[in-house]
Amino acid sequence: MAATAPQTPDASPHIPVLLGPLMAALATRPGALGGTWIDGTLGAGGYTRALLDAGAAHVIAIDRDPQALAMARAWAPSYGDRLTLVQDRFGTLDAHATGAAGVVLDVGVSSMQLDQDERGFSFQRHGPLDMRMGADGPSAADIVNHATEAQLADILYHYGEERAARRIARAIVTARAISEITTTRQLAEVVEGCLPRAKPGQAHPATRSFQAFRIAVNDELGELARALAAAERVLRPGGVLAVVSFHSLEDRIVKRFLAGAEARTRGNRYAPDIAPEPVRFHDLARGGIAPDAAEVAANPRSRSARLRIAARTDAAPAPPLPDALGVPDLSV
Ligand SMILES: C[S@@+](CC[C@H](N)C(=O)[O-])C[C@H]1O[C@@H](n2cnc3c(N)ncnc32)[C@H](O)[C@@H]1O
Repeated sequence: MAATAPQTPDASPHIPVLLGPLMAALATRPGALGGTWIDGTLGAGGYTRALLDAGAAHVIAIDRDPQALAMARAWAPSYGDRLTLVQDRFGTLDAHATGAAGVVLDVGVSSMQLDQDERGFSFQRHGPLDMRMGADGPSAADIVNHATEAQLADILYHYGEERAARRIARAIVTARAISEITTTRQLAEVVEGCLPRAKPGQAHPATRSFQAFRIAVNDELGELARALAAAERVLRPGGVLAVVSFHSLEDRIVKRFLAGAEARTRGNRYAPDIAPEPVRFHDLARGGIAPDAAEVAANPRSRSARLRIAARTDAAPAPPLPDALGVPDLSV
């Protein structure tokens, strides 16, 4: 894990995604910024600063990456006690406030993380096979070298939607028997050896495998499911939940969560005596919001992003149901 650094000179600045549509949606809800907001994904601070600049009374900005916190310390003093920085996982975001006015999650990896060789997130860069967003836990190298072949195939299939999961898992096990896989280049070469070369316009063959191991290392889908339940507990009635996701696995979890929180009944029409469930969230943008052509042209990384935004009701929170959200349990 790289040491905490106040700046990341080699990294591209992170361009906040779908921030315009989020702020536009909040502008239509008088009083939305009065109270405490929790930004569960501080990153380079784009969302946190926009909320504070638009008048949010207080923002608790959380990130599991110590580098994100270190960078924020350079500009945080200009917001005085309106900003609180916390190093934590967003799965436990409700430990830091009560009755929050809003929760925002811009999930996934930041440009700074992707662009730093030594973080090991990118097959396009030479670095140690790390991929940890936080400072602890097993690295990608630990998983790649120690998981069973079946576990590797499950990770590749469920977290990378990789159809060649079994072939790649077998190739990893063969390669690591000769020498440990410790670098991004080694893993990319093993994957490249299993798949045809990308045609123009297609993603690099290692894209899905790197996504899969990154999700496994950081338990990203489990964290997202826990964060949604935590947001439900921490938001005040009328409080806003906004989630920006970057691929279908994440978006499906948010979509199912909101659909479950809006469903008025459980069971089916042959079970009429089931009591109606109170609505816990109102979806404010059915189907979600995608970036427009101008945003995609200015920031190609925004291409697959989707913003879902909902308002909390005064119904009691329901117990979390990770299975209902379709989060695969692949602990290794
Ligand atoms: C896409 S970036 C957020 C960018 C930010 N919205 C901005 O405008 O600069 C995602 C950030 O969330 C952090 N993150 C991802 N999963 C997390 C988790 N479970 N708990 C806390 N932080 C997390 C990452 O470390 C990264 O800094």
